[in-house]
This record gives sequence, structure tokens and C-alpha cells, in this order.
Amino acid sequence: DIPSLAETYAEFFPIGAAIEPFQTEGLKAELLKKHVNWLVAENVMKPDAIHPAEDQYNWTNADRIVAFAKENGMELRFHTLVWHTQVGAWFFKDPEGNLMTDETDPAKREANKKLLLERLDRHVRTIVDRYKDDIASWDVVNEVIEPADPDGMRASDWYKIAGADYIATAFRAAREAGGPDIKLYINDYGTDDPKKRDRLYELVKGLLDEGVPIDGVGHQTHIDVYGPSIENIMASMQKFAELGLDNIVTELDMSIYSWNDRRDYGADIPEDILTKQADRYGELFRAFRENKEIVSGVVFWGIADDHSWLDGFPVKRTNAPLLFDRQYQAKPAFWSVIDSL
Ligand code: XIL
Repeated sequence: DIPSLAETYAEFFPIGAAIEPFQTEGLKAELLKKHVNWLVAENVMKPDAIHPAEDQYNWTNADRIVAFAKENGMELRFHTLVWHTQVGAWFFKDPEGNLMTDETDPAKREANKKLLLERLDRHVRTIVDRYKDDIASWDVVNEVIEPADPDGMRASDWYKIAGADYIATAFRAAREAGGPDIKLYINDYGTDDPKKRDRLYELVKGLLDEGVPIDGVGHQTHIDVYGPSIENIMASMQKFAELGLDNIVTELDMSIYSWNDRRDYGADIPEDILTKQADRYGELFRAFRENKEIVSGVVFWGIADDHSWLDGFPVKRTNAPLLFDRQYQAKPAFWSVIDSL
């Protein structure tokens, strides 16, 4: 019998996993119950899933995950109130059904912005109100920084229609609806990259100065066996901690390929790659433990290699980014995370 990951890490921080509702039953559920004490919905709490039309909310799938967490004494994260993808197109259409992003008339653009922010405000309040007693940790906005876009702000439909104001609107609505006890995060990937980190820092600092209620930064941490450096990952968390913010590793996985690798190992993953992965996972968790004052939780984006978004992204190839294999057996990476203690 192998040790429990969450129990082993209990003195440091919670350990989480992203799941789909169907994984609350069967062998996957057993694996989760043993090893994690934190859950997040991989897809079913995203805007298009939970709020597919202006007057329609789908709670059923989200509720299944909430119920599973409660039954098993696990905490939850909410992912995500706002995103530029997996969001219903209805948000960005004016009352005549035209795309707000196409509007050029200044008066109509002003009216569209107002309408979009009103929709956003209702969206956030309705969802936060429903889950505020069940979910303490919330991704309010996801992936709003893009250093290559004008201003360093992602040129999403949100941004094109409302400018950066949508971010403050979402955080304020979440705080008003949820009260002081829920924790509100700005979540992004690649926060280790100094350029992106610094743009995110500038944005967050400005918002905090205006009194916008942000509690912390979510660092997705989709990394691979070759990079980025653990120093840069930790330096970013350090920088945000100095602003008084909390840090969570929100979507951890470690691809066995570099981003642009066109190979596919299929079922024959070289052993040295799994060893490399194990060593790096061990070093990473050592760094997290040594900095437990600034790392308040680690959530994996999945739990076992049979179910990972990285099998299909950025290209279709067999990946193995997690701590358990396709048969739910502990990989060298699991033992490294345990034995690095
Ligand atoms: C991914 C899911 O894992 C996939 O099932 C879905 O098809 C696309 O989204 N960053 C995020 C997550 O913030 O929401 C993404 O999840 C992975 C990258």
C-alpha cells in the first residue's frame, strides 16, 4: 500500500486535482479520495458550461463535483468566472445580434461596453452567490495577460469591448457577492517568464492601488521536462508575495515533450524521460516545501495519465504529464515527490 500524497503533504499545503463529473465514480474516484484533498472542475464551471445563454444556467454538472468534494471532506476551487475561451458568444452580441467587437460608432461602443459589464456583473454575482458557502478559492479571471498584444493585455473580446475595466468589475462583483471570506485569484500561465510576470505584476499592483479586491495569483504551471527553470517559477511567486498576495499552483502538469516537439512516443516512453520527469518533480516539490509560506496549495491538472488535456494539445501525441500512469499505478515521479521529503 502506497502513502497518500495529500496526507504526506498535509503539514505543507493542500494537494488538488482537476476533474470531470464522470470521475466522481469508479476507480478514478478511489484514486482521488486517497491522494488529494482539493478539487477543481476541469471544464464544467467554465462560463460556456455553467452559463450557456443569458437566461440559462447549468448547475447539474458543477453540483456533482461539489457534492463529491463534500462527501469526501475535500476543499474546492472555482475555475473560472471569466475567460476569453470556453465562453458563450451571447456575451459579446448587442441587442440586435451584432458582434460588439465590430462596432465602430463611439456612442454604440459606449452602450455596448455598459451592457457587457452589466452582463458580467450578473454572471459573477449569480455564480458566486450559489457556491460561496461551498467554494473558498476562486479564479475570477484567467489568462488576461499577453505580452505580444497591445498594452500587454490579451486582446480578447472582453478587452476589445470593455478595455481592462472588465477585470475590476469581475473582482468587485465577486467580493460583493461572496463577502470577505472567499479568496479571489487572477490566474495565468507562463508566470515564470519575466516579461509576462512583470506585466502581470504591474496590472495587479495598479488594481490593488485602486482598491480592487484581489487576494492572490494562480500560477497554472503547465511545464515540461525541459523547462522552465524552477528558479524562475519561485522568483515569480516571491515577487507577488512581496505585494502581500497569496500564490497557488493551480494547474500543474509536466509534459514529456518540449512544446514544439513533433514526436509521439506512443506506448514506448523512454525510461530516461520518466526518470528526468521524476527528478524534476522532486526538485519542484522541494522548492514548494521550502517556500511553503508563499505557496499555499498545489493543484494538478488531472491525476493520472489516462486523462490529460496534453494528449491533444498543442498537437495530438501520447503524453504522460502526471504522477500516476494509465493503469493508476504510481510513476517514478510520484515516488520522487514523496521521497524528496
Ligand atoms: C483545458 C481542459 O483541460 C480541456 O479539457 C479543455 O478542452 C480545454 O481547457 N489552461 C486553463 C484550463 O486555464 O482551463 C485549460 O483546461 C488548460 C489550460
